[in-house]
Amino acid sequence: MPPIETIGVLGGGVMGAGIAQSLAVGGATVTVRDIEDKFIEAARSTIVDGRYGLKRGVERGKTSQEDADAALARLSFTTKVEDLKDVDLIVEAVPENIDLKRKVFTELDKVVNDDAIFASNTSGLTIVDITEAVSDARKPKFIGMHFFSPAPVMKLVELIHAERTSEETIQAIEALCTAAGKASVRVKDAPGKYGFVANRIYFAAVREAQAVLAEGIATSEDINKAMVMGFKWPVGPLAMVEGATKGWQ
Ligand SMILES: NC(=O)c1ccc[n+]([C@@H]2O[C@H](COP(=O)([O-])OP(=O)(O)OC[C@H]3O[C@@H](n4cnc5c(N)ncnc54)[C@H](O)[C@@H]3O)[C@@H](O)[C@H]2O)c1
Repeated sequence: MPPIETIGVLGGGVMGAGIAQSLAVGGATVTVRDIEDKFIEAARSTIVDGRYGLKRGVERGKTSQEDADAALARLSFTTKVEDLKDVDLIVEAVPENIDLKRKVFTELDKVVNDDAIFASNTSGLTIVDITEAVSDARKPKFIGMHFFSPAPVMKLVELIHAERTSEETIQAIEALCTAAGKASVRVKDAPGKYGFVANRIYFAAVREAQAVLAEGIATSEDINKAMVMGFKWPVGPLAMVEGATKGWQ
């Protein structure tokens, strides 16, 4: 399979904006599609001026000005799904709702060229359930591509393969991850389970932190502090969910 060069990202929210930025920095030409101009503007502003955006990346010495300008020049934004018809890869990052994801993929399947790979950034929905939305011919080209938040910073991408996902598809996405400076792990689709590897393990810890809080053993501040100072976690178990849902401003 030829290398992936052009990518359409569906949804320019917390994850879509960060994914688009990461892949553009990695050298791909990326088109972000959202449903209204105001969401497009928010995505552009997150990518350019956000806490983990291109400007701050240059200020912090993570990227050169030249590379940040080149990445921005490879990014475009649209509200029209037809603008994605020629891409090599779709990465879907619309809200975590199976019906919405199926609707989006059914529409894309009709518009986007037959060779394109389809990936979902679902946090935990079963890939085979989402894949029902596309034609039989697309099923070997369907994969889960689970980024972590904030996507421009976090290295990990879980690649979830359903029974019909082809080895060729997995390898093409692994190569893309490497080109974008990401580390990938292969994860088997697990119908009936929510979450893949990292979130399943992480949320077990969050549940325990909530139980400790409910039992009145420590305050939420001290629970967070205990894990940050005791185990060098970057944020405490009760603080993570806020950043993931509201974005990192
Ligand atoms: N936030 C996280 O930490 C995180 C981490 C990993 C994976 N995820 C997953 O990523 C996905 C997106 O989550 P998010 O936090 O970025 O959500 P979000 O609400 O911040 O962004 C979703 C975006 O999708 C847009 N959208 C809605 N319908 C659309 C359509 N038909 N076409 C194109 N765009 C559309 C919305 O306008 C919005 O801008 C979810 O599946 C979520 O579970 C989230």
